[in-house]
Amino acid sequence: MILVTGATGTVGSEAVRLLSAGRRPARALVRDPVRVAQRGDLADGIEIVTGDFDRPDTLDAALRGVDTVILVSPAVPAQEIAVIDSAARQGVAHVVKVTSKASADSPVDRRRGQARIEAHLVTTGLAYTLLRSNAYLQNLFALAPMVKQTRGFLMSAGEGQVGMIDARDVAAAACAIANAPTAHAGQTYCLTGPDLITYTDVARELSAVLGHEIEYRQIRADEHRAAMIRAGVPEAVATSNAQAFRLIAEGDAAWLTDDVATLTGTAPRSLHTFLTEHRAAFS
Ligand SMILES: NC(=O)c1ccc[n+]([C@@H]2O[C@H](COP(=O)([O-])OP(=O)(O)OC[C@H]3O[C@@H](n4cnc5c(N)ncnc54)[C@H](OP(=O)(O)O)[C@@H]3O)[C@@H](O)[C@H]2O)c1
Repeated sequence: MILVTGATGTVGSEAVRLLSAGRRPARALVRDPVRVAQRGDLADGIEIVTGDFDRPDTLDAALRGVDTVILVSPAVPAQEIAVIDSAARQGVAHVVKVTSKASADSPVDRRRGQARIEAHLVTTGLAYTLLRSNAYLQNLFALAPMVKQTRGFLMSAGEGQVGMIDARDVAAAACAIANAPTAHAGQTYCLTGPDLITYTDVARELSAVLGHEIEYRQIRADEHRAAMIRAGVPEAVATSNAQAFRLIAEGDAAWLTDDVATLTGTAPRSLHTFLTEHRAAFS
């Protein structure tokens, strides 16, 4: 039995969709099954179990009988550590952890948090695989309201390149591992899309897809942080985002690998494919 956490989220919902068509039994952990049922959020063919990262008793019940966990969440350390500890208690064999460019000395708070979670996972002795992804193409949805209203977007990533990946390809890689985890124990895969992309490329591709000019308005990281807060982004998230965009400007995200194709047998989706499929969100 495979359990997917964060099953209503960007990566988790695609993992659930893929697993529901697969051969291994799978279970989706959600905290509000009524909302999921009302909205028809999750595919048929998958067991839905209620669980809250902040309530370990619900996690123990959800993880009973599970051998493999696809662990994806907003990556609050205490919450993911609670899932990992519950997995250990329930005899789970393998955890596939979705993570980022984590390091204990990163200037970005959420990357230090990921490093804490990874370190804890290692100490449990559970078999694990880390999926260290580059930035998701789905982050571009945050620009959509501004693109629609102003035919442009603000960004502080300069001309930094990013190996942006479609979160659906992260899910596909996670499912490929969860379906046959033994060979992947102890491995870390670095997941990227097929191309190095700058935000100038994003503006050019959006212009082509939408049929009118979209302007990339470059701003400083401090201006960007202030703009995100004005737009309603929580202060801590705006700070981490601005730090991450500054790192992008410095070349921190300019990395590509073949790991998605190696794991899934399929090339990852490109920026062009993503924007063409999601044209309506930006127009
Ligand atoms: N965005 C990027 O560019 C990027 C790049 C690399 C790595 N990552 C990593 O990707 C992960 C985030 O993945 P994502 O974007 O798929 O997440 P997401 O869309 O934000 O989804 C979060 C999921 O967690 C669930 N959740 C939140 N609090 C919960 C609780 N207390 N109990 C149970 N479930 C709860 C949410 O459920 P509800 O629907 O109930 O809220 C939702 O299903 C993080 O580890 C992040 O570091 C992201």
